[in-house]
Amino acid sequence: MIQSTVVPILSLCLLATAFSDDVLRSRKPEVIERDICIIGGGSSGTYSAIRLQQMNKTVALIEKEDRLGGHVDTYVDPVTEQTLDYGVVVWENVSIVRDYFAHLDVPLSDVMLGEAPVSLYADFAHVSEVSPDALTTGNITAGFASYLAQLARYPYLTNGFNLPNPVPEDLLLPWGDFIKKYDLDAIAFAVYSYNQGMGNILAQPTLYVLKYFTASTAIGAFTGGFVTTAHHNNQALYDRALERLGSSALISTHVIKIKRDRKGMEVLTSGPNGLKLIKAQKLLITIPPKLANLKFLDTDPIERAIFGQFNSSYYWNSIIKGSQVPDNTSITNVDVAAPYGIPALPGPYALGYTGVPGLHTVYYSSPYPISDEAVKSDIIAKHANLVELFGYGPATTTPEFVGFQGHNPYELTVSADAIRSGFYGKLESLQGRRRTWWTGAAWQTQDSSAIWNFTETVVLPQLCQ
Ligand SMILES: Cc1cc2nc3c(=O)[nH]c(=O)nc-3n(C[C@H](O)[C@H](O)[C@H](O)COP(=O)(O)OP(=O)(O)OC[C@H]3O[C@@H](n4cnc5c(N)ncnc54)[C@H](O)[C@@H]3O)c2cc1C
Ligand SMILES: *[C@@H]1O[C@H](CO)[C@@H](O)[C@H](O)[C@H]1NC(C)=O
Ligand SMILES: *[C@@H]1O[C@H](CO)[C@@H](O)[C@H](O)[C@H]1NC(C)=O
Ligand SMILES: *[C@@H]1O[C@H](CO)[C@@H](O)[C@H](O)[C@H]1NC(C)=O
Ligand SMILES: *[C@@H]1O[C@H](CO)[C@@H](O)[C@H](O)[C@H]1NC(C)=O
Ligand SMILES: *[C@@H]1O[C@H](CO)[C@@H](O)[C@H](O)[C@H]1NC(C)=O
Ligand SMILES: *[C@@H]1O[C@H](CO)[C@@H](O)[C@H](O)[C@H]1NC(C)=O
Repeated sequence: MIQSTVVPILSLCLLATAFSDDVLRSRKPEVIERDICIIGGGSSGTYSAIRLQQMNKTVALIEKEDRLGGHVDTYVDPVTEQTLDYGVVVWENVSIVRDYFAHLDVPLSDVMLGEAPVSLYADFAHVSEVSPDALTTGNITAGFASYLAQLARYPYLTNGFNLPNPVPEDLLLPWGDFIKKYDLDAIAFAVYSYNQGMGNILAQPTLYVLKYFTASTAIGAFTGGFVTTAHHNNQALYDRALERLGSSALISTHVIKIKRDRKGMEVLTSGPNGLKLIKAQKLLITIPPKLANLKFLDTDPIERAIFGQFNSSYYWNSIIKGSQVPDNTSITNVDVAAPYGIPALPGPYALGYTGVPGLHTVYYSSPYPISDEAVKSDIIAKHANLVELFGYGPATTTPEFVGFQGHNPYELTVSADAIRSGFYGKLESLQGRRRTWWTGAAWQTQDSSAIWNFTETVVLPQLCQ
């Protein structure tokens, strides 16, 4: 009895002092000196590390997972050895993308995001079939042209959130109101399908929709122009980057604490080879900057006041195996009673066609946090309803998740009021403050090509000054 209460208290005390300077000295972390320490080895962090290496800077790239790549998820089918990208699938065919892949010797090929051989529609929540005719609500070509004309009004959205003051009120309108105001009904469903993971997209400030659905994405979506890895193995880019970075990349490594001062910083990490103390001149943070993610950082009141305003939506990607839905069939979730057919979330976007026998994808979003288990059981329940609805036989076997990832928090947003009050000016003013630079989706948008361009043209030039 006594022990069971004493022991936890004792271990808590130990934990609290575990990383005091004395204890650290006695545990002797290996000291590494680097020009720049980068936190997060996903899209923006890996790109930065490779580019800085090309510029002859020394870096340490810290990634908590056992691989680089962030939102990239490549499934390898154990039977056919076919690979399937169910995280990041495409990039834009622009020089920054081609140069990066060429530097890492990973071949690209053109890709058009195609339809499944059989495309069906259903209201997943109300379990009813939807006719494809119910979806066509106008001239998509004309809608697309109107969208691009709107986007052209805001050239400063290309890189970062360099917003004018006052911020144009149109950018602060909920996206649903912007659609009405500019007659964009015809493309509302398509934009929702591309800008996945935004939760309730119609309620989001228009700013975030325009940032996400870039001109290149719009062109790629409607007329083609995306690229993907020639071997449909996007993880290869990151595996190659890991090789090139060698001991400069620390995977399966957690940041315990960062201490910054005028001269530089100390980053204490714990990984497969024990504790390391990275002494760096500068810091580049690339993870989603919500306060809950930055507990290792010695944040000050200014940083906390800014990052504390971020809210977010949530996004999951998965592969199910053994569905009774035929391999050649996709079923898209549509609510004909809702504006533009966009179903309320949390919920799945579709049961997707993959081209790999026995496999379908399911992408899922929620405006608020829910557990992975809740997402899985909702997918399984809705899948069973679809099997019955379309008469694919009694749903006797439950499909198995052979891939399941939550990339959360996903889209970081603040309220329209905060944007109006200059949130993004304050956010940008953090670049370089306390020898710390920032990049990643929260600073640009959820689009790897756009993130690399922003990193290349805005962040790295300042960082390397
Ligand atoms: C399912 C899905 C499909 C997508 N499809 C596309 C697409 O086809 N094309 C496209 O351009 N974009 C796509 N995106 C969006 C795009 O991938 C993201 O915008 C991009 O990955 C964001 O890059 P980032 O560097 O900000 O974050 P991430 O790529 O998420 O990188 C952050 C990294 O930091 C690591 N990390 C987090 N916390 C810590 C910590 N404390 N210490 C160390 N490491 C940490 C994470 O593990 C992660 O590897 C997709 C996203 C998802 C989820
Ligand atoms: C980096 O170093 C290499 C080898 O010393 C040199 O050839 C190259 O020009 C340098 N690059 C830059 C950008 O300084
Ligand atoms: C990308 O665009 C370039 C230039 O327009 C073109 O030559 C190339 O075929 C396209 N596709 C790939 C995979 O590079
Ligand atoms: C759709 O809009 C385009 C561009 O405005 C126009 O050329 C085309 O004729 C329209 N199509 C139909 C079916 O109205
Ligand atoms: C799709 O698959 C089903 C079941 O295997 C088959 O009956 C149907 O003919 C296929 N349709 C197409 C268009 O390939
Ligand atoms: C923001 O937070 C509130 C309260 O938790 C939530 O209801 C809302 O949907 C959140 N998400 C977004 C993207 O605004
Ligand atoms: C990349 O950034 C440059 C410089 O701001 C800009 O001119 C260009 O349009 C951007 N490219 C893409 C594809 O967004």
